[in-house]
Amino acid sequence: MLPVEITPGIFWIGVNDRITNLFEGLWDISREGISYNSYLIRDEKNAVVDLNKAILTGEYITRLQSLIDLKEIDYVVINHMEPDHTGVLQMLLTAAPQVQLVGTKKTQTMLKDFYGITENVLVVKEGDTINLGRHTMRFINTPFLHWPETMMTLEETESILFSCDAFGSYGTLNGTIFDDPSVNLDWYVDQALRYYTNIIAIFSRPVRGALTKLADVPVKIIAPSHGLIWRANPGRMVDLYDRWCKLATEPADPGITLLFATMYGNTEAMMEVVAQGIVDEGVKLKIFNIQKDHVSYILPSLYTTRGVMIGAPTYEGMLFPTMEAVLNMAESKHIFNKKASIFGSYAWAGGADRKFVELAEKLKWELLDSLTFNGTPSHEELLRGRQFGAEFARKIKE
Ligand code: FEO
Repeated sequence: MLPVEITPGIFWIGVNDRITNLFEGLWDISREGISYNSYLIRDEKNAVVDLNKAILTGEYITRLQSLIDLKEIDYVVINHMEPDHTGVLQMLLTAAPQVQLVGTKKTQTMLKDFYGITENVLVVKEGDTINLGRHTMRFINTPFLHWPETMMTLEETESILFSCDAFGSYGTLNGTIFDDPSVNLDWYVDQALRYYTNIIAIFSRPVRGALTKLADVPVKIIAPSHGLIWRANPGRMVDLYDRWCKLATEPADPGITLLFATMYGNTEAMMEVVAQGIVDEGVKLKIFNIQKDHVSYILPSLYTTRGVMIGAPTYEGMLFPTMEAVLNMAESKHIFNKKASIFGSYAWAGGADRKFVELAEKLKWELLDSLTFNGTPSHEELLRGRQFGAEFARKIKE
């Protein structure tokens, strides 16, 4: 894309990444891609806010150079050290050694740890400002959003909040960087929720602290490091973050996420009737085949629904291994306080449901019921499965 002037003198100079399959090496973005948003403030002094991953670096530097001689850059603001924001730093400093790097005390340490950089680092604290001429940058500490060094930068003249990962999303920018009416906003909101549950949800308490702090900050535009710039309605993302961070400790909506795995179709056959029973009760249901659906898509549903129905066969006396891996990820992302049940087939002896009891305890999930059956489910067992699903749905509605 060409650079975009957001307000006079402030430019988006980011890059669309349509190459990477797994963000952080973990999260599937093979279809959606992602943008690394970087910004240039041109004034008497010039500042770049956030950089770019060490990918498509030629494109990034060329875009930056189309607006400014690199030797004229005075500051690079490092809101966050994760290399999707800083990977291009050493290359930039080679061409622009005069640059002063701006970040928190922890950023200073990480600059040494990641890149061996110890000079030209300006440490800023909460509320510090740098005047560039017509523009002024003010720094807002937002630790653990989602690393310990993270901060946000407010450009006070135009009230633009460079919010770093917060309020960001997966998904490339497709023809526009803004939340224009022509954009499929629902898709970006889904990608923002996926980003939140994959990367930020575990830090929902710091998110709440940041939202409280930002409540007193006049913001006209939110410019995150990934995804759309929220100009038409910046309050939309703030409201969503308010709701999402509360889900870490409060009950979610009365829907059900059904996760299933199957070896030879027997647990899947039972899944179909359990799903019928749930829908009989008018409860919203999302079904994931964990052998096909990447966990990055499963976490948002788990996070935003009250009930979890697990369908998994017993495997060598244990819970089916890939199901255990998904539930371990849910635990590591602090997806707690759900109501759950489990069903599944076994060949000669059960065990999946016993293993699930241990996992549910770690997850702080209330285990309501279980239904196991030997081999292929009989017609009578399928009828019982439909009832099992309906009973679970009724408890979720309570
Ligand atoms: Fe955009 Fe924390 O990486």
